[in-house]
Amino acid sequence: MTAETYTLGYGPASIAMTSSCTAPNHAQFFLNLLEPGMRLLDIGCGPGTVTLGLAEAVYPGEVIGSDLELKQTESIASSVEPSKANLSFQIADVYQLPY
Ligand SMILES: C[S@@+](CC[C@H](N)C(=O)[O-])C[C@H]1O[C@@H](n2cnc3c(N)ncnc32)[C@H](O)[C@@H]1O
Repeated sequence: MTAETYTLGYGPASIAMTSSCTAPNHAQFFLNLLEPGMRLLDIGCGPGTVTLGLAEAVYPGEVIGSDLELKQTESIASSVEPSKANLSFQIADVYQLPY
């Protein structure tokens, strides 16, 4: 397999665009399927703004947001309230998940 490139990149415009996504406005179809206590793995979670809404929907179920690029999740990870600590982030390549 040849190396892949994430063509959107991680520049300010790209981060701003993906950070504007939320679970209600980009994943309502999926929110409808979630119930408290479910466990989720969000692969390619980007900045984690969608992941945060998913974590609220399944609380207290565990949610892991996973992405290739650490910078993507730094800002949201620091904003998660300790009392809502069902959400964590990790760096992982979808082709080599540590599970
Ligand atoms: C368009 S963003 C989607 C962000 C988020 N899921 C959303 O809907 O708002 C795609 C994300 O996939 C990640 N990605 C690309 N290739 C990946 C790979 N091989 N393994 C894990 N994540 C990857 C990128 O770093 C980027 O953050």
